[in-house]
Amino acid sequence: MSAKLWAGVFKKDVDNEVLNYTETTKIDSRLIRYDIWGSMAHLAMLSEQEIVAHDAVSAISRSLLELYYANERTPIELDPQCEDVHLNIETLIIQKIGREAGGRLHTARSRNDQVVTDTRMYLREEILNLTDSLILFINDLLQLAAENNGHLAVGYTHLQPAQPINLAFWYSAYVSMLLRDVERLRDSYRYTNINVLGACALAGTSFDINRELTTQLLGFDSILHHSLDATSSRDFICHAISSFAIIMSNLSRLAEEVVVWSSNEFGLLTIDDAFATGSSIMPQKKNPVIGELVKGKVGRVYGALMQILTINKGITLGYNCDLQEDKPMLWDAIDTLKSSVSISHRQMTTSIYQSERANELCWRNFSTVTELANLLVNRINIPFREAHKICGTLVRKLTEIHSDLRDFNYIHKYLAENSISLTILEIEECVSPEKVVLRQLSSGGTSPKAVANMLDDMYKRVLDHQLWVNESRQKLNHAQDTTIAILQKLSQI
Ligand code: ARG
Repeated sequence: MSAKLWAGVFKKDVDNEVLNYTETTKIDSRLIRYDIWGSMAHLAMLSEQEIVAHDAVSAISRSLLELYYANERTPIELDPQCEDVHLNIETLIIQKIGREAGGRLHTARSRNDQVVTDTRMYLREEILNLTDSLILFINDLLQLAAENNGHLAVGYTHLQPAQPINLAFWYSAYVSMLLRDVERLRDSYRYTNINVLGACALAGTSFDINRELTTQLLGFDSILHHSLDATSSRDFICHAISSFAIIMSNLSRLAEEVVVWSSNEFGLLTIDDAFATGSSIMPQKKNPVIGELVKGKVGRVYGALMQILTINKGITLGYNCDLQEDKPMLWDAIDTLKSSVSISHRQMTTSIYQSERANELCWRNFSTVTELANLLVNRINIPFREAHKICGTLVRKLTEIHSDLRDFNYIHKYLAENSISLTILEIEECVSPEKVVLRQLSSGGTSPKAVANMLDDMYKRVLDHQLWVNESRQKLNHAQDTTIAILQKLSQI
């Protein structure tokens, strides 16, 4: 007969290739802490409900505490022969204290509810970590915005020079975007932090368990009551990875801007030497590889999303082994996102935006001529369509003589020919990039004043998110401390 914990019905041991194909110990190593914590909470509940008697409870408590602290010191190495983290931990306990006591831990529990419990516990922590690193990034972007409020940048549409913008407006655009990402992560947390322990294999149990107690001891916010749904629920993973995928896609847009703005042709951004690499053959090269790699790594996270959605669509209710494939790509998506947020953050804070170059490009590319058209509407009461035409022709003529909007005398003469009288000073005031930016005072506009208003609001929102992360972490820490304190008590009875 096989030595496996489930082997009663089997005549033969499992084939080696089958074991290799099915065991998940490498992947499960991230779940050890949560599996032990989950077992502690389950045991405390079995004891409270008088489902397992004191002697066994105290012996199991002792060995769970030992395993917990041993794992904190040096991560426990899982034995592939025991398939997964759940059977490994249970086996270790039985080896330590024998089957008579240790064999009682798995009462009213199944690997099917355990595995989702562990995954939810691990994922919620990673969601908090990711939220934290996004908040750090956002805070630095806000600082960059505050320091550069009023400095000039180029605004593009169709990647063609469009209008001058405030550099703080550029930085804060990413804050505005990333704040939505934080909100999405908070939603993912809400779907993740739900207790499924107690669903057992699929149908609940005839033991008088107390799911409220394990919910509290494991720091979950609520219970997923329906056992059949609970054991096969993986939509929380779909939700989390879809949040991750959107964040990657947003980081990738930033990465694309870094790559393009830092090219010699644009010359708008100087990447720190430590954040670029050179060429083995072309001595002049400084390649923006971080931006390129962030864009390249997006595919991994999109791939993970496709994978979990595909697994999820093809299973009947109740646990199916297909679900075991939920974790490898989830882990990879978490790692990829974590490193991408961190490196994008550091690259952004070490890069230098070249406002002087922006000023030159704004002049040279006529990016303030919309404002001249606006002036013709405001001052001369010309219909905007007509003003647009007059200014368009002006741009064509200036281009033909290789000049630009700095040629105030030419503009003055051209307007006079069209029976429009403006002074040279009025023209200069109207088309100077920095002055144009000052006038974009509409709510959400690029003027320093409008941006300062937005920054105020962003600071408030980010503070609320930080508070939420801190409170959520405190709740989890408190739950864990409580569980350990209860186990310590139980181990001494
Ligand atoms: N190792 C499995 C997983 O990762 C959990 C065990 C599920 N139960 C089972 N009978 N195979 O999904």
